Amino acid sequence: MEIKSLDSTLRARIAAGEVIERPQSVARELIDNAIDAGADEITLSIRGGGIDELMLTDNGKGISREDLPLAVTQYATSKISKLDDLYHLKSMGFRGEALHSVAAVSKLTIASSWKGQQPWTYVVDNTREISLTPQGPDRGTVVKVEDLFSEIPARRSFLKRPASEGTLCRNVLLSKAMPFENIHFTFIQDGAIRSDLPKRGTLYDRVLDIFCEDEAFNRKEFVYMEREFGDFRIRIVTSLAGIRRSDRSRIKVYVNNRAVEEFSLVQAVCYGYGETLPGGSFPYTALFIDDNPELVDFNIHPAKKEVKLRNKAAIHHEIHSLISSSLPRQIPGIAARKRDEDSQPYLAPSAAQTQTSFISPSYVADRIKYDGSRSYQEAEKAGAVCEKPADSEWLEKAKKLFRQQDEKQYEKTQLKADDFWQTESRHFRYIGQAFRLFLICEKDSCLYLVDQHAAHERILFNELKEQKDVQQLLIPVDFEVDSDVDAFLCENAYIYTQYGINIAQKDEKLWTLSSIPHSARENEKRIVSYIQSAIGSEEEIEAGLYAIVACKAAIKAGDIIDDYTANALLEKVFELEDPVCPHGRTFVIRLSEAELREMVGRTK
Ligand SMILES: Nc1ncnc2c1ncn2[C@@H]1O[C@H](COP(=O)(O)OP(=O)(O)OP(=O)(O)O)[C@@H](O)[C@H]1O
Ligand SMILES: [Mg+2]
Repeated sequence: MEIKSLDSTLRARIAAGEVIERPQSVARELIDNAIDAGADEITLSIRGGGIDELMLTDNGKGISREDLPLAVTQYATSKISKLDDLYHLKSMGFRGEALHSVAAVSKLTIASSWKGQQPWTYVVDNTREISLTPQGPDRGTVVKVEDLFSEIPARRSFLKRPASEGTLCRNVLLSKAMPFENIHFTFIQDGAIRSDLPKRGTLYDRVLDIFCEDEAFNRKEFVYMEREFGDFRIRIVTSLAGIRRSDRSRIKVYVNNRAVEEFSLVQAVCYGYGETLPGGSFPYTALFIDDNPELVDFNIHPAKKEVKLRNKAAIHHEIHSLISSSLPRQIPGIAARKRDEDSQPYLAPSAAQTQTSFISPSYVADRIKYDGSRSYQEAEKAGAVCEKPADSEWLEKAKKLFRQQDEKQYEKTQLKADDFWQTESRHFRYIGQAFRLFLICEKDSCLYLVDQHAAHERILFNELKEQKDVQQLLIPVDFEVDSDVDAFLCENAYIYTQYGINIAQKDEKLWTLSSIPHSARENEKRIVSYIQSAIGSEEEIEAGLYAIVACKAAIKAGDIIDDYTANALLEKVFELEDPVCPHGRTFVIRLSEAELREMVGRTK
């Protein structure tokens, strides 16, 4: 017989190899357990780089005497009990493997007290149970791990010098502490406190405490953004353009409080910055995604470093859009013209204002949440509106007028495509902006209210559709995709080719973009980001592409725009044959002087 069953010690060590690689992995697992135990004081203390001794102290709920031996058994966990629980995970741990793995490769001591009862201490030395004795802390748990890999010299020889292993342990503590601003974390190395992260009132402060551990940043150079969607919420603490580095290593991504290595989400952050950062430089960012646990699968990697997100495409888009719409930005097309003329760096007023508003995180969050759906007064009260449209008296009158209109009359005043521009003259007089959405102008005895976002979107959309020129990229852009998108592109790359977007597969999951339509020349990053996340029918891809280039690039509802930009935009609007946005909605309202007079009872 050649096949034999492995003995339990060997089995445990093989299993441990997947979870415990070095002291840092022990620290990671023990911190997770302390967080799951509800602790708000967590201290990691190491000696000899964590190889000689690594100790984790917490003030969590503790472990009972009966459970102590169970805790180090394989697949023993208090966190899940049935398969379905995997899809509703709230805890950091769930596999019931960590302590078992640690006990297989070190001397493990767990001392704990449960519900104020007599504390107990359990000792296991490289899978051998040593003792269970009545002593320990009054509250919480102390886990001590000594002589890591002492019985597996081959593994021990792979470890780095203690100083380097110690740094890795500290890094894992800092990384774990990032999303938990309500927990006090301390790191002690060879008896000296190296990091002390007190409890903080906001995530922003916790992230900055960590970013500022090694580099002295001005905190005002960082901003906080937040947005909620149906199934997920995105929170971001990120640096403004003045703070940057030449690698992506400070872009940290968390999904449901767990640090993950998810390259496409890191890329979404970079694309959000677009041209704001010089090429080859990257921000300092902490990105937190709180996603519906049913859409998240962490059960892929033994150390839970990888995650499968069912709604990744949507999350990817929103990260990109949240950052690009919140950072100071330039308005493409129209603003660019002005910039050329003045040969001065140009920031749209809204962008310039955003920049000076990056003072307190709450204020910024408030601005970002302002999406035009609130009334002007509400927004003003909340501090989101800082500048009133110039003709405020006129506006008041106009608002009254609208209120007086009944539904039917309102519909009547909406413009129909066929009879839209019956007037000859292109001349108009721009009056002002209302509700940060409507550009108001007077032309040929009519008053026009133009939805600035939809109008700009339509103009960009036209450019996209009309200009068939294809621009070859001087330097093709390589990009990675995940396996679903890779398979989709292998079959459907032709969809993109029709729009002048040439992509080719270089290797498994590695693609290259060599051309884009001329009209989208400033948007190659957005296009790449879109390709990386899109799967769908030809129509869906087309709609998505136009939306990405036109909608995302367009002036937003909520942007305050200057007179020059407004005039340039209106000029283009009056050149249109048919004022309907790419989604099929009319975006211009016309009120004739006669109608207005009638409303106020003036017949002449
Ligand atoms: N610091 C602690 N405080 C309270 N209970 C703990 C602590 N550490 C471990 N436990 C208990 O021991 C059990 C086993 O821990 P272990 O880390 O091995 O598995 P897990 O956390 O359930 O899953 P995973 O292997 O994914 O970490 C936990 O489910 C928990 O009930
Ligand atoms: Mg655990």
